[in-house]
Amino acid sequence: NRVAVIFGGKSGEHEVSLASANSVLQALNKEKYEIIPIKISREGKWYILSSLNTFDSNIKCEAAILADPTGDNLVNLQEKEPGQIFFTRESVDVVLPVLHGTFGEDGTLQGLLELANIPYVGCGVAASSVGMDKAMMKAMFAQHNLPQGKYLTFLRKEWEKDQDPICDEIETALGYPVFVKPANLGSSVGISKAANRDELVKAMHLACLYDRKVVVEENINGREIEVAVLGNDEPEASIAGEIVPCNDFYDYEAKYISGTSELKIPAPLDDKTMNEVRKLAVKAFKAIDGAGLSRVDFFIKKDTGEILINEINTLPGFTEISMYPKLWAATGLPYDKLLDRLIELAIE
Ligand code: DAL
Ligand code: MG
Repeated sequence: NRVAVIFGGKSGEHEVSLASANSVLQALNKEKYEIIPIKISREGKWYILSSLNTFDSNIKCEAAILADPTGDNLVNLQEKEPGQIFFTRESVDVVLPVLHGTFGEDGTLQGLLELANIPYVGCGVAASSVGMDKAMMKAMFAQHNLPQGKYLTFLRKEWEKDQDPICDEIETALGYPVFVKPANLGSSVGISKAANRDELVKAMHLACLYDRKVVVEENINGREIEVAVLGNDEPEASIAGEIVPCNDFYDYEAKYISGTSELKIPAPLDDKTMNEVRKLAVKAFKAIDGAGLSRVDFFIKKDTGEILINEINTLPGFTEISMYPKLWAATGLPYDKLLDRLIELAIE
């Protein structure tokens, strides 16, 4: 099997992707797979690397996907111009996207791969884009009666016209503090917590810099519980884990840079709650019509014990110490076997 691992990307989560892909490239079974490491630069250029270290930028050549819907265009890693390589179904058996956030986790890459007729690991176009757009995701969860916190969504255009009425509406419906988020970015980029009107206005402005759509969420004083889901039409849930954050909220810094948040696996939950979050995780996966993998994040309210879904991540962090693979390892599927399984699921 020729497996193209694609990473980096035009995303605020470029570095996280390099770290995830580095673990993946080291762990993939070299006897089983011929690995083609493809790095997308921040600017969006594709390169095939000559080494399996994502931080080492030794470039073998430039790459591009050639759409080949019929499958009978026999271009075999064909050199177009010196140093430029196109690949198709004929040259790659499966793509393993290890990209987080925009242009990778959001359905755009998945659409390109559909067009090129190349199988790929993970969610399809619709699930990926719903999973990336917090407003769409929440609407889908609501449609499937998944319990979630209160929220409001606004367009940048609306905010530009009606700042005061929007602030009033947020204050009445959600109170303070609230979390203000661009609808379409991952890893807490552009997100802020606002505890009063001044902070709310700043938070809205900031979020509007990143996206034309903004989601405002009520504050939930909850434990952060995460479940890993694996499979296609009959997905399974791992045991749940818990994140004990070191910061005010689990922000980009705490998540990926300082590494000081603590993961508890399994999460210390009673059996009933453990079963319930696992069930809800599968339900959320099905609600977005997921495939392959997703990590589903929950809050368990500290006062009432109520379970609320926070979000689904269709390409969760994948370093060897990330929650998704650690949850599967604790459920009996070690990292390298998890990768085998994901590749199987992509081509089944
Ligand atoms: N968006 C990051 C990679 C995660 O959810 O793990
Ligand atoms: Mg996310």
